[in-house]
Amino acid sequence: MRILVCGGAGYIGSHTCLGLIERGHSVVIADSGVNSSPRVIPRLRRLAGVPIPVHRADLRDRAAMTALFATYRFDAVLHFAALKAVGDSCRRPLDYFDNNISGTIVLLQAMRGAGVRRLVFSSSATVYGEPERVPVREDAGLSVMNPYGRTKLVAEQLIGDLCTADPEFRAANLRYFNPVGAHASGLIGEDPCGEPTNLMPYICQVAVGAREKLRVFGGDYPTVDGTGVRDYIHVVDLARAHVDALEYMVRADASVTVNLGTGRGVSVLELVHAFERASGRRIAYEIVGRRAGDAASVYADPSLAHALFGWRAQFDVDAMCRDAWRWQAMNPEGYRTVARREPASSRGRRARIGGSRAVDVV
Ligand code: UFG
Repeated sequence: MRILVCGGAGYIGSHTCLGLIERGHSVVIADSGVNSSPRVIPRLRRLAGVPIPVHRADLRDRAAMTALFATYRFDAVLHFAALKAVGDSCRRPLDYFDNNISGTIVLLQAMRGAGVRRLVFSSSATVYGEPERVPVREDAGLSVMNPYGRTKLVAEQLIGDLCTADPEFRAANLRYFNPVGAHASGLIGEDPCGEPTNLMPYICQVAVGAREKLRVFGGDYPTVDGTGVRDYIHVVDLARAHVDALEYMVRADASVTVNLGTGRGVSVLELVHAFERASGRRIAYEIVGRRAGDAASVYADPSLAHALFGWRAQFDVDAMCRDAWRWQAMNPEGYRTVARREPASSRGRRARIGGSRAVDVV
């Protein structure tokens, strides 16, 4: 299939482009560049070994989106293009509503205009709010804790209404838990702008000396060691889930909403210690007060994705830490770094790196 990947230069989008290409699909990227680096593109092309057309386009730009759909005949769209920082969304909700919701509406209109009726949407476990019980199943109650979460829930609902109105429209809402890790090559990974708000990139920056110490938000939760428990999932497992869900949607001619997690809860301190083992570095930390809005424990029941399309996470926390560390050590300043050698502590599991025959389309 030929797939439009909106937000394909971002963290999860870039890994999923590789997953699609490995399974024989062709990919066109549309990315506004607002939360991605153009330097991901040559690296992606090198890993993929095939040309990847890239269009710098914002989903809200109706003319650009219409032109894109007029240029290519897409079989499906994968939609990763969204702002995603919870705290930031509380400070500027309108920007989040505009980017995430208006962008989705323009994309859906462009798809409709071109007769493209398959969408894989990046949703989030945030739609469960503070879950009443764990593991969380897809039929758990939905609620909104912040403007970012509202954009994900509203987008799911808009897509649902479209599926009702157009019986031929198919959608896969994929509710991610906590994506971490990086491609085994160390060439692509997560490169947050400014101070990281998520745990794993913060740990990575402490490990390379860019930050002095991790602040652990809360040591008095009713969990195994008092720190927050989450369901961390390797980004390569997550990328594969997109391809599996897309192919299932086509094969079964069905829409789905599924959790993507490992089903295993890991505490902040368990992740810190796993990272120390993987990197051979000590991670300085201090336990401070709880962060507003954080739940004690959130992890998935991922059995529906397995039942429907046979997907199950393969990588454990040690692999997530090893790959996150390799990426960080080879790219201490993210994509601003000219890639360095792989660290000795993470050698052993490497991806085959394809040739570089790509040309820039835009
Ligand atoms: N944490 C720290 N110190 C930090 C950062 C995080 O102790 O510097 C802790 C948090 O308190 C939490 C855990 O590490 O217990 C994970 O926090 P993250 O910020 O990495 O992830 P969250 O689970 O808070 O957020 C993620 C996604 C959001 C999504 C949310 C709910 O990043 O997009 O899950 O699904 F909204």
